[in-house]
Amino acid sequence: MITGVNSGIGHYFASTLARRGYRVIGTCRSPERLDPGLLALPGFIAIGMSLDSDESINQAFHQVREHCDDSGLYALINNAGIVSAGPLSHIGMEEVRHQFQVNVMAPLRLVQCCFELLRRQAPQSRIINISSISGLFASPFIGAYVGSKFALEGLSDSLRRELALVGIRVVLIEPGSIRSPIWRKQLGIGQLFSTSPYAAFIASADERIEDMERQSRSPEYLLPSILHALESPSPRARYLVHPKKWLIRLMVNYLPTTFVDRLVERNLRSSQQAIRPF
Ligand SMILES: NC(=O)c1ccc[n+]([C@@H]2O[C@H](COP(=O)([O-])OP(=O)(O)OC[C@H]3O[C@@H](n4cnc5c(N)ncnc54)[C@H](OP(=O)(O)O)[C@@H]3O)[C@@H](O)[C@H]2O)c1
Repeated sequence: MITGVNSGIGHYFASTLARRGYRVIGTCRSPERLDPGLLALPGFIAIGMSLDSDESINQAFHQVREHCDDSGLYALINNAGIVSAGPLSHIGMEEVRHQFQVNVMAPLRLVQCCFELLRRQAPQSRIINISSISGLFASPFIGAYVGSKFALEGLSDSLRRELALVGIRVVLIEPGSIRSPIWRKQLGIGQLFSTSPYAAFIASADERIEDMERQSRSPEYLLPSILHALESPSPRARYLVHPKKWLIRLMVNYLPTTFVDRLVERNLRSSQQAIRPF
């Protein structure tokens, strides 16, 4: 089962796995608007599911259970997610709540819903949570997103240690920038925060989003990691998927925080400002 299959990473994996012979249950808000190519794949089942509240997840989950019947579920891929950009001192609290609902509360609720189905396929079954390098490194001006992915990382670590006792694996995928509509949905944030004290730093956010899109890799770049996470009898706890893994590990684990803070500030004050410095 994969959430958020109508675009980006979710669409790529739902179609790739269905073509490889997997039976894929793909969820999205509007199945009637799904790519007909994906809908036509044998083994693909679309289910309408909004992640906006536990009630909407619970309601849609009945259909998932019917499709899984007695055989249970082999894997739950919590992929759907959103980015709410903006300075933490000024972003609307409703926006932050929604960010955490979709990226944190909904994946956890789905784990609870799918628990018994996953148990039927233990000790092979697994949960794959799509995190981000933003779950490891806290960039400014996407703090709500960063907070949600750090939370997902912590939940996944606790879950992995709990679910090991019942034979369900828990894996984190931590991608860098991947080509998808996710960042484009934030175009216009410069305008939105133009009266904030950070206006000068955010003004060129649209250009930076476009640069990031140009430099990002296709979802195919994640394929070896997702396949390993999905098919290996011993999947790793986390897969950091970035061409400069070493740089992220250095910044996160080895360099002093004050030094990294200064690097980020210098980056923001220079002409090469970036929403994410990688
Ligand atoms: N692209 C990157 O650079 C990147 C890097 C690291 C991690 N990630 C992570 O990868 C995952 C997939 O992102 P993507 O890049 O493929 O972005 P995307 O193309 O925007 O896909 C996000 C998916 O989540 C769904 N979604 C959003 N809000 C929802 C809600 N309230 N209820 C149900 N579904 C909802 C979207 O459906 P709608 O179209 O209906 O909104 C869409 O299917 C996310 O968790 C993201 O954080 C992405």
